[in-house]
Amino acid sequence: MKSVRLFQSAVSLVAAGLLAFAAPAFAGDEEKTAETLVKVLKAGRAVVSEHQELINDAGKGDKGFTPDYFEKKWAEKYKEATKSDLPKSEPVATLVELGKTVVGEAQPLINKQGMGFKGFLPALWGRKAGEKFTQKTGIRLKQTAEQYRFAGNKPDEFEAEVLKQFADPGYPKGKEVVKTVSMGGAQVVRYMAPEYAAKSCLACHGEPKGEKDITGMKKEGYKEGGLAGAISVVVPVK
Ligand code: HEC
Repeated sequence: MKSVRLFQSAVSLVAAGLLAFAAPAFAGDEEKTAETLVKVLKAGRAVVSEHQELINDAGKGDKGFTPDYFEKKWAEKYKEATKSDLPKSEPVATLVELGKTVVGEAQPLINKQGMGFKGFLPALWGRKAGEKFTQKTGIRLKQTAEQYRFAGNKPDEFEAEVLKQFADPGYPKGKEVVKTVSMGGAQVVRYMAPEYAAKSCLACHGEPKGEKDITGMKKEGYKEGGLAGAISVVVPVK
């Protein structure tokens, strides 16, 4: 806890998303940190996903989808997926706090009566939580794809290269890429986990490519089981 606070005060995050500051002082292995953050983010997105019908219920005002309710479901989901408890240590604790903040900020939208589809989607929640987390900790946590929808999700050079590898039919399915590189003059561990399109993704990301989905954006033409993007984490090395 103390080391994280020290670290935060030392952080300066360059607007372009480049990490150009002294390394953090949290204990533990960077790869493990990245791996855990991806699992935590995925569990949070799954909770938003499982509550889409409730969130988009036009007939209901107060949905009870509060930050505390969300946290409870998030911990349950994480346990279900990993068989372990949601870590209370940093930097996960910060991600949980900020993920709840995103749900808190969306309360007026979520509780709006008479409105169906609200655009409060798993990927939107994940992006906002990731953005806040990156700002606060200096650890980049980002969803990305070659055909990105949101400008901030645009892959950088490294990410674009790894996305190409992930898309190769010969690439081992689900295998993460982990690399220690120099970024903005600092040593960082870069971690990327591929994401594949489930049936539930295709209404928005499926075929026919170019057709508008419910959000008004163009479908990417992904196929079930095919690559849908990646979660990218950049952890500064001590
Ligand atoms: C209701 C429509 C909808 C569904 C269903 C949906 N997405 Fe998305 N997805 C979006 C939107 C909108 C964004 C842009 C979010 C943002 O603002 O960053 C997005 C963003 C993403 C991104 C980040 C890269 C980008 O395009 O900016 C990934 C990766 C992604 N979605 C994967 C998935 C996967 C995997 C599924 C199924 C498990 C899924 N999506 C289901 C609408 C959807």
